[in-house]
Amino acid sequence: MNRVLITGATGNVGAHLVRELRTRSAPVRALVRDPTAAAARLGDAELAHGDFDDPASLRRALDGVTRVYLCAADGPRKVAHETAVIDAAAAAGVERIVKLSALHADPASPLPAYRWHGEIEEHLHRCGVPAVVLRPAFFMTNLLMVAAGVAQTGTLAAPTAGRRAAMIDIRDVAAVAAVTLLADPHAGHIYELTGPKAITFAEVAAALTAATGRRITSLDLTEEQARPRFAAAALPDWLTTQLAGVFGVLREGGFDRVTTDVPTLLGRPARGIAEFAHTFADAFTPQPTPASPATA
Ligand SMILES: NC(=O)c1ccc[n+]([C@@H]2O[C@H](COP(=O)([O-])OP(=O)(O)OC[C@H]3O[C@@H](n4cnc5c(N)ncnc54)[C@H](OP(=O)(O)O)[C@@H]3O)[C@@H](O)[C@H]2O)c1
Repeated sequence: MNRVLITGATGNVGAHLVRELRTRSAPVRALVRDPTAAAARLGDAELAHGDFDDPASLRRALDGVTRVYLCAADGPRKVAHETAVIDAAAAAGVERIVKLSALHADPASPLPAYRWHGEIEEHLHRCGVPAVVLRPAFFMTNLLMVAAGVAQTGTLAAPTAGRRAAMIDIRDVAAVAAVTLLADPHAGHIYELTGPKAITFAEVAAALTAATGRRITSLDLTEEQARPRFAAAALPDWLTTQLAGVFGVLREGGFDRVTTDVPTLLGRPARGIAEFAHTFADAFTPQPTPASPATA
């Protein structure tokens, strides 16, 4: 039976993928840096203690593994991290790698994460291991980055110029990863993963209104209005560039195409924004402040 190594197992998609594969009774091993924290997140899944920067730990984690899910955090070490896993997997004779990439992956992209994905995809295609590449669109979970502000102000502000994005729920990304890891006919394919519908941020605000029972409105910012907001978040330079660039892509219509890959691979429609909003309604709702301790 195929044993699957999940890298990035404690990450957003990875944690859902571990659950997906275990539901399907597939033998799973999760590569984790901190087994105690990982056990709290992943339950009693088999853990391999390791680090992308430690080649010996990758060799140990790959022992007896036939398939690998490849995902490292975005950042300047991403290409080194993912190519280290690819090289170790090729040396270990793994049969298939499923790489989490991104729509617009391109080694010539001015956006750092898209460029890194493009470079890793090229390395993957050269390594000789049959591969599947998953290129999701904008994650719905990106909205959680501004959830506290939305809860406070009742306003969802973003520089979208009213354009649409076929946002995807990461639970569907994980479900597709599970299918392409376990079933045979997918090697060599690049799948572009979107939600069921291209939606505006006004439609996102309407879904959040319905899910929270509070009126949430959308506010379209100009690029100039958005720039200081990104800067105020005090993010690393590459991430500020990436975020601003992603909204530039969105404004140019780069996320407005709906693909059929998710329903074809899963045999059901992709999850929509209403389901996401329902799941995360609490994050977009003001939380009561704790009562002050009673005085004697
Ligand atoms: N956001 C979007 O709209 C979007 C759209 C399309 C594609 N994507 C792509 O999705 C990917 C991110 O997926 P995600 O959100 O599921 O991942 P994530 O939550 O960022 O998780 C990153 C994982 O990498 C692990 N990790 C970090 N450094 C490590 C190291 N040195 N050794 C071993 N493990 C290490 C982390 O483990 P620890 O728990 O130990 O930190 C964590 O499990 C990115 O490549 C991004 O470009 C995102």
